[in-house]
Amino acid sequence: MNGASRTHYLRVARAFGTPAYAYDAATIRARCRALKRNFPDATMHYACKANENLSIVRLIKREGFGLETVSAGEIALARKAGIPKEKISFTCASIGNKELAQAARRCGHVHLDSLHQIELWGRAKLGKDISLRLNQGIGAGHHAHVITGGPDSKFGISLADIPAARKLAKKYGLRLTGLAQHIGSNVLSVDILAQAMQKLLDTALDFRDIEHLDFGGGFGIPYRPTEKELDLARLGREFTSRTRAFARTHGKLVRFAFEPGRFLVAEAGTLLVSVTDIKRTSKHLFVGVNSGFNHLIRPAMYGSYHPIENLTRARGPRRDITVAGNVCESGDLFAIHRNMVMPELGDVLAIQNAGAYGMSMASAYNQRPLPKEILVDRARVREI
Ligand code: LLP
Repeated sequence: MNGASRTHYLRVARAFGTPAYAYDAATIRARCRALKRNFPDATMHYACKANENLSIVRLIKREGFGLETVSAGEIALARKAGIPKEKISFTCASIGNKELAQAARRCGHVHLDSLHQIELWGRAKLGKDISLRLNQGIGAGHHAHVITGGPDSKFGISLADIPAARKLAKKYGLRLTGLAQHIGSNVLSVDILAQAMQKLLDTALDFRDIEHLDFGGGFGIPYRPTEKELDLARLGREFTSRTRAFARTHGKLVRFAFEPGRFLVAEAGTLLVSVTDIKRTSKHLFVGVNSGFNHLIRPAMYGSYHPIENLTRARGPRRDITVAGNVCESGDLFAIHRNMVMPELGDVLAIQNAGAYGMSMASAYNQRPLPKEILVDRARVREI
């Protein structure tokens, strides 16, 4: 964070209080545009589970994105944001016929996740064309919990089940016009993403009626200072050359789509918290703050690293600090033995890269209210 944004975010903390999520609109727009520039042949659907604030969804919609949804609630959000049916996609495991029927009515693309879902779709006559979410055995991601390809994943129809899927499609007179996959979340390797893309393209060649291919999301961002950002330009080139080669072989017009979530919003979001207590044990110098895993669960749930800066104090003695939340569990730690400028009571800390899967996974655990959300759009700063 540079000096100007430090002062700016400190002002946000003073004006709105802490804990609060502050989002930078310019960063979200820049990420949207980078994706569109590097993937000119693809449609983009924002996976709104990353950040479900209506103003953020509207901002991303204005950049020309559709929405990827996973529940009736997210479909309602898409409609509220004014996203037309054909730009809403839906993918979800373990749902029943009611939710599936609603998705079929309200979404342009529904990617069926199991043989059972094909059966439900066919029986209820939800439409002639279907799309299948495949599990092609390729998985990746920052933590086992978010790897969605391979035998440990509950998601998708495995390649071995494709003959059974075709049989069901035939039984109900359905056309297999779409295939989708999502291999996992926060992938920084172009090679793995390109390999998964290629695998879907190869599989699709066996589907005569294919019209639509969805490569999912998963584009990673660097959380740790040692991590390098995803080489989007190279990934874009891989995508363009592979899909154009596919189009030449396949011969018919096929539409391509992605469903990025984190990439658009993670780096735009900062959780602003205040130091409320300082305590030493034989192992830790605990700095307690007025937020916790009820507001940002990623460190507790996945051991995720989020950069933390002291906005009030740029200089001073550095210490190895354990930043603790105010939830009544020992695992409620934002950072363990992190070397940073020693805070004092009342200092404002910025927990960064928190715009994705921060507020959307927040809860009222311990009966504490949710943090405010503030959108910083150049000079315009407002609660959203
Ligand atoms: N498409 C599907 C079918 C998905 O399941 C997901 C994410 C996405 C797209 C978007 O993935 P992204 O581009 O954001 O990586 N709570 C975890 C991440 C869970 C991701 C779940 N699915 C975290 O905080 O890291």
